[in-house]
Amino acid sequence: MTLLKIAQIGHPILRQPARPVDRDELLRAECQRFIDDLIETMHDAAGAGLAAPQVHRSLRICVIEVKDNPRYPYKPNIPLTILVNPVLAPISEERFVNFEGCLSVPDLRGRVPRHAELRVRAWDRHGEPIDQIVRGITAGTYQHECDHLDGALFVDRVEDPRTFCTWKEFARHHEATFREQVRAIVARYGS
Ligand code: NI
Repeated sequence: MTLLKIAQIGHPILRQPARPVDRDELLRAECQRFIDDLIETMHDAAGAGLAAPQVHRSLRICVIEVKDNPRYPYKPNIPLTILVNPVLAPISEERFVNFEGCLSVPDLRGRVPRHAELRVRAWDRHGEPIDQIVRGITAGTYQHECDHLDGALFVDRVEDPRTFCTWKEFARHHEATFREQVRAIVARYGS
């Protein structure tokens, strides 16, 4: 497997809508190897997710996994999930405010409103259908990763730019309050 280079904000690939993947292309060895590399790169960078455009591939594929993540120690775990051509649809009007960061946006976090309950339809890496409901902090992670497939970054969705902070200042001044909010969100939505 190969570690892939992660594009940083300012690189045009992060702003291009990615193209859908057809089933034949998905099942080819080259694409399966790419998915393995995407997963390995996410693990290496301790990301909660990684989308193909972030590694300079304009494909509608993203991977998500949270397993006691050191970058986001308060995030509920999410099993390894590969989404191909995902479509997200909110199933309620409810929203919550997330505090996000991104491997493509070095040393910056900010507060982003997200839908609290989503239906997710996609293929898995074998082209088999996924149809699931995700809620709470996990729903925020799904929206963040799927935004990458549309050329959007969390910085676009920060409503109050005064909430931007470095990771160090987040830990010093905002993390304790946000952890309380996360506890309330997990209590309400189960994740
Ligand atoms: Ni990101």
